[in-house]
Amino acid sequence: GQILGIEGTAWNLSAALFDRDLLALCSRPYSPEHGGIHPREAAQHHASAMREVIATVTKEPEKITGIAFSQGPGLGPCLRTVATAARSLALALEVPLIGVNHCVAHVEIGSWATGCRDPIVLYASGANTQVIGYLNGRYRIFGETLDIGIGNALDKFARAKDLPHPGGPLIEAQAKSGTYFELPYTVKGMDLAFSGLVSAAKDSRKLLSDVCCSLQETAFAMCVEVTERALSLTGKDEVLLVGGVGANARLQEMLRIMCEERGAHFFVPERKYLGDNGAMIAYTGKLMLESGQTLAIENSQVNPSFRSDDVEVTWKHEATP
Ligand code: ATP
Ligand code: FE2
Repeated sequence: GQILGIEGTAWNLSAALFDRDLLALCSRPYSPEHGGIHPREAAQHHASAMREVIATVTKEPEKITGIAFSQGPGLGPCLRTVATAARSLALALEVPLIGVNHCVAHVEIGSWATGCRDPIVLYASGANTQVIGYLNGRYRIFGETLDIGIGNALDKFARAKDLPHPGGPLIEAQAKSGTYFELPYTVKGMDLAFSGLVSAAKDSRKLLSDVCCSLQETAFAMCVEVTERALSLTGKDEVLLVGGVGANARLQEMLRIMCEERGAHFFVPERKYLGDNGAMIAYTGKLMLESGQTLAIENSQVNPSFRSDDVEVTWKHEATP
């Protein structure tokens, strides 16, 4: 059956239709006029664009067998706007409602798009930076940022240097002609922290290209170190990169080199499946529905701090060693 999925945890309102394959995808990103994302403004944007994204992907509503939505984590006002639309659709079409964890959805669509089977996942996005792997029925978080997400760290630095939002791609472009110098590197066990690094980068008086290069090299090396540690801890031999920061060619290169040195395989999905998108919600919703996970309307409240290890993974069988 066809599952309609709606994503809108932060900047991108996106709807998709998934059956055996992706049938339709429509995104209407919100871009703040100045500064970072304002949660209320983003939610208003989502409300205004909702009719259009849903109408664009839904040509034959009678074929839809479930409505999936991103239940969290994310910005409260944005989550509530999406949940309201999803509940209404499920009631109107008389089909089940499925609440999808946004982080789990990043991992599932990345696995689907690349064909990897049992990876250690580096999930590097705006608000999140986590190293995740499947173990005993859940996606476990082996390590994560203790303060801000890596994307937000890059965006913060960019804002301080008067670069437009989002800063990630502009920093990547600048870094290409830069030279590395040392900046604060913070890995504590399996966890990471970025705010000290961002402060030092902001305060640096060196050439912008040199600071961009050093900021990237340092932040990415921290992520690669934790990813490598999770690989060796679990004995897994695949690495999957997901999240908007995964678009960065240097981060991809550093992970690829680490994997080659360890004899592991590196996977990264094409760009449209890396950042927030409706396809990841529709696809994960389909996996959940087919394994019996639906949500009663009265239990469908959003969860801004929903964690991937809160989700019981009913659709996956233990990988054979
Ligand atoms: P989540 O809710 O999962 O935290 P998100 O709402 O932050 O996700 P994503 O699309 O996953 O959204 O990621 C957006 C982030 O990706 C922004 O911080 C942006 O700067 C960063 N980004 C995009 N392209 C690049 C790039 N080429 N290099 C580095 N960062 C990038
Ligand atoms: Fe995301």
